[in-house]
Amino acid sequence: MPGFVDLHCHILPGLDDGAVDVGDSLAMARRAAADGIETICATPHIRADHDVRIEQLPERVETLNAALAHAGIAVTVVTGGELGAERFPMLSDDELRAISLGGGGRWILLEPRPGPMDDALEETVEALHARGFRAVIAHPERHAGADAAERLAAVVRRGALVQATVEFLYEGGAAPVLAAWAGAGLVHLVGSDAHTSRAGRPAAVSRGLGALLAVPAVSPHIDWVARDGPRAVVAGEDVTPPF
Ligand SMILES: [Fe+2]
Repeated sequence: MPGFVDLHCHILPGLDDGAVDVGDSLAMARRAAADGIETICATPHIRADHDVRIEQLPERVETLNAALAHAGIAVTVVTGGELGAERFPMLSDDELRAISLGGGGRWILLEPRPGPMDDALEETVEALHARGFRAVIAHPERHAGADAAERLAAVVRRGALVQATVEFLYEGGAAPVLAAWAGAGLVHLVGSDAHTSRAGRPAAVSRGLGALLAVPAVSPHIDWVARDGPRAVVAGEDVTPPF
């Protein structure tokens, strides 16, 4: 079932700690296309330790799309960003719109502060909401304290969606934890969080979707997780998960 969206990918070349050059970006896109991905959100780190100029992002995405077309790779890259929670208060509404997933103007991929999720995450989700945006929580498995499920439930009640890293859905100690969270309605979307074609997590989502298909509460809604949900997010629509 093709037509996937990768909501979290560091595919823009030479920008953050993602793709090192255009060749690397094209290799990531080829891998994504082979996996059935049609759309990739370019989500460079918006964080103090990376010099990413938000105003340059549309042109960088356009340049990469031209290179993809030239190489005959049937993937479209759209704008986005992975916003470090601590950086959020410094951004204007225009800047938030510019890094919204797909440029849809609504959904912000929010990276929790380092360490376990705490009250600050809920406060940031609420503050985003107050400014007309909604949060997609990035890789919660990397911020899992003892009360992680309760923390996630709290932000989901406030209208946030949760994005799991694909690789951790099928590999390592986080997989059963993520399956349990998904079963409780606390994982809605996936992203590769790929950084390069040369090592680490591939720019692919299908194996993670397969793992979610095995979660009984999610399996009837797998088309929503794979396509309808992420497409609505990049379109900037108001999304309510069906599970
Ligand atoms: Fe990331």
